[in-house]
Amino acid sequence: MYAQMVKSTGTGLKSADEMSAEERAFQARIDAGEKIEPKDWMPEGYRKTLIRQIGQHAHSEIVGQLPEGNWITRAPTLERKAILLAKVQDEAGHGLYLYCAAETLGVSRDEMTEMLLDGRMKYSSIFNYPTLSYADVGTIGWLVDGAAICNQVPLCRTSYGPYGRAMIRVCKEESFHQRQGFELLMTMMRGTDEQRAMVQESVDRFWWPALMMFGPPDDDSPNTAQSMAWGIKRDTNDDLRQKFVDMTVPQAEVLGVTLPDPGLVWNEERGHHDFTQPDWEEFRAVIGGEGPCNAQRLAHRQRAHEQHEQEATA
Ligand code: 3HC
Repeated sequence: MYAQMVKSTGTGLKSADEMSAEERAFQARIDAGEKIEPKDWMPEGYRKTLIRQIGQHAHSEIVGQLPEGNWITRAPTLERKAILLAKVQDEAGHGLYLYCAAETLGVSRDEMTEMLLDGRMKYSSIFNYPTLSYADVGTIGWLVDGAAICNQVPLCRTSYGPYGRAMIRVCKEESFHQRQGFELLMTMMRGTDEQRAMVQESVDRFWWPALMMFGPPDDDSPNTAQSMAWGIKRDTNDDLRQKFVDMTVPQAEVLGVTLPDPGLVWNEERGHHDFTQPDWEEFRAVIGGEGPCNAQRLAHRQRAHEQHEQEATA
């Protein structure tokens, strides 16, 4: 039973013997697939891990409005503008469901915002890259929302009830986001040579940052082992990255774009595609604040926060 999940060897996890009676009972509930609800007893580490993960996820949804919001006033048609507006509004809604889920753990949205603004909390690395052409709206839908779905569908089964329930709704909307991105790219690929070149250039820029969204490789991921044992994460970072690559390759073929990795080949023996790892130095720099748009994104978030405070006290 739960003793399988709780090795004390090298993973930093407590063995069953090292756990208190409450912790053992809690782990047994997780292993039986029960949902943990806000008023249930939980280890402090479980609560903190959830606040970190849900809070960072909420911040990602809010900051994630900025790269695409950049194109709302320049959408090429009324239809594209309406689709993009709806999508960006959905992201704001996702942020709100997630802040509400985190609030059930005893932290307020204001506290989480303060933690984002003073650097104690992160948001997804992907939103620190610029959107340079309208094709990026399609590529973000296809690759970024596609990666988000891969990561988030399993989170519908996460052990914390309010988080899993928020994810069910988020995932339904993310599926629409992914499809609108694919449809936009397909339309451009059926257009002119210039439009096809725009799509390829955009995919070349977003492929590697999309792979980074799943987090560092498993052997360099400090949180995965405990989060898996607690049922917060259902799959490891590397497993989800592989799933995303396998899912995306046939879609790229349908679109007629080339994924920018010469090492991307089907491995018959593994039943998966082999692929080149992204530049993990770049990933560390981006989450450390050194990405191309970190300063701009946080400055924007800070301005919006101050404006809200002024309006609230006016
Ligand atoms: N961007 C920024 N930080 C990242 C990251 C990324 N892509 N991947 C990992 N990190 C951070 C972690 O937060 C952790 O830092 P911390 O300890 O200071 O919090 C550190 O790198 C080590 O990584 P771990 O693998 O140990 O961390 P986790 O176990 O938390 O796994 C995760 C990382 C897979 C991203 C996990 O937190 C997760 O599944 N989160 C929920 C999904 C989420 O946040 N998605 C945001 C994507 S964008 C989105 O949803 C918007 C949509 O509209 C596209």
